[in-house]
Amino acid sequence: MRVVVDTPVVTAASTPARDLAALIAADTRADYVYSYPPRQSYRPLPPGPDADVPGLVSRSLARFPDLNLYAHVPFCRQICRFCNLYAVADAGRDDRHDDYVTAVLSEAERLAALTDRKHVTTLYLGGGTPSLLRPQLLERLVTGLLALFATDPATPPPETALEVDPATVDAAALRDIRAAGINRINLGYQSMVSAEVVDLGRDRPTTSGLDLLAAALGTGFANVCVDLIYGLAGQSDEGWLSSLRQVTALLPPTVCAYPLTLRPFTGYRRRGYRSVDGALLHRRYRVADRVLREAGYRQETHVRWVRDRGGYVQKANHWGMRNVLGVGAGARSYLWEADLRNGYSVRSRSSALRDYLDRVRAGQSPVRDGYRMTPDERLRKAAALNLMDLDRNWARELLGADPVERFADRYAAFAELGLAEVGPDRARLTAEGVQHRDLLSQTLFSPEVRTRLRAFDYDE
Ligand SMILES: C[S@@+](CC[C@H](N)C(=O)[O-])C[C@H]1O[C@@H](n2cnc3c(N)ncnc32)[C@H](O)[C@@H]1O
Ligand code: SF4
Repeated sequence: MRVVVDTPVVTAASTPARDLAALIAADTRADYVYSYPPRQSYRPLPPGPDADVPGLVSRSLARFPDLNLYAHVPFCRQICRFCNLYAVADAGRDDRHDDYVTAVLSEAERLAALTDRKHVTTLYLGGGTPSLLRPQLLERLVTGLLALFATDPATPPPETALEVDPATVDAAALRDIRAAGINRINLGYQSMVSAEVVDLGRDRPTTSGLDLLAAALGTGFANVCVDLIYGLAGQSDEGWLSSLRQVTALLPPTVCAYPLTLRPFTGYRRRGYRSVDGALLHRRYRVADRVLREAGYRQETHVRWVRDRGGYVQKANHWGMRNVLGVGAGARSYLWEADLRNGYSVRSRSSALRDYLDRVRAGQSPVRDGYRMTPDERLRKAAALNLMDLDRNWARELLGADPVERFADRYAAFAELGLAEVGPDRARLTAEGVQHRDLLSQTLFSPEVRTRLRAFDYDE
């Protein structure tokens, strides 16, 4: 069955097992739920106390001694055809990078005034393509952020991570990146098959794929992650298998395999790529799981497989309900009291960047929209994000309630269909349940989030 994926999510019927069984039998594909609520439910914060960004930030941060920091760097060499991230093509212009880092640090300085110093457990530089920044600028950003927030600014957090477009670096650049304090890199290959990479619309496709990965593995990073996407236009089953085999031959500690998210206003859509087959995506997922397990990886989530010291601590901490504070043009903060977002656009990328810079330079908060969390939404977030393996005691202790009891009808349906095993301490998805994890997560969305998702149009 072909499923057109224009809709932001499959707002699956909330309970009955037979509705869920029908969706699963039809190989219905649901968007990857990597945060809750999804960004399509963000709105400008309503006037009043809920729009008091400093209050929301300071109360949230006061709740935990630890903190995760995220900085968004929007610049890219080109806009890839599948990309629906907030990125700005800068054709290698690095003249604006200094000004951008200055703006990010001044935004961070105002946020740091709202909190005492924290144990910064992770610092993630994402994008866009932050590997376009000169190593000196990377170092300025890392040391500048730690100097503002960390109890121990001289020691980079155990996960100090950088997203790297492989076409932007060589072995020498990787050494500079390591020397700038980065100890985890995320290599966004997306595919190891040259024809598929050309088809992504990258202006300088990586020709040295495996050489570069080998160099990265020999550069002394504590963790190297390779990102791959399945469901790319023009990707065959053989191509997908080839990408997996090439990557697993070198055994990077972390491999992420994402199903394609296809959105309006992307190059793919302009070129007429309109739908992704749910059955095909599930088949590719099963191939990834098999190949990675055979190579000695263990599955950490439905999109991530790890060995040795592999993992993705910032994402695990986010899903563990700890605070993630974001700075930068397209940054999002996932906080105890609210999700906050500075900006987002795939239609007017440059003007969104100008808007961010103007606001920060004027001393204003760049936060544009978000979602106010409530105790009920926090419980849904804990359940939806940790559906694969929920520690019920952790949830009871942190949230004062057990998601399995609160959403008993849904867990009963999952169990009835053989998608979950519910025990007194943990509720875990079965292998079949993991394959449908996003669909099942969406059954936990609140009525308010569903209403907002239905009202969302993709004119952004
Ligand atoms: C925040 S993005 C990193 C962007 C970075 N510039 C890059 O291309 O490597 C993290 C990962 O999400 C995945 N991703 C981005 N857009 C996607 C899409 N439309 N569908 C599926 N996965 C996507 C890619 O694997 C990407 O490496
Ligand atoms: S996929 Fe990565 S490199 Fe390509 S446009 Fe998006 S953020 Fe930039």
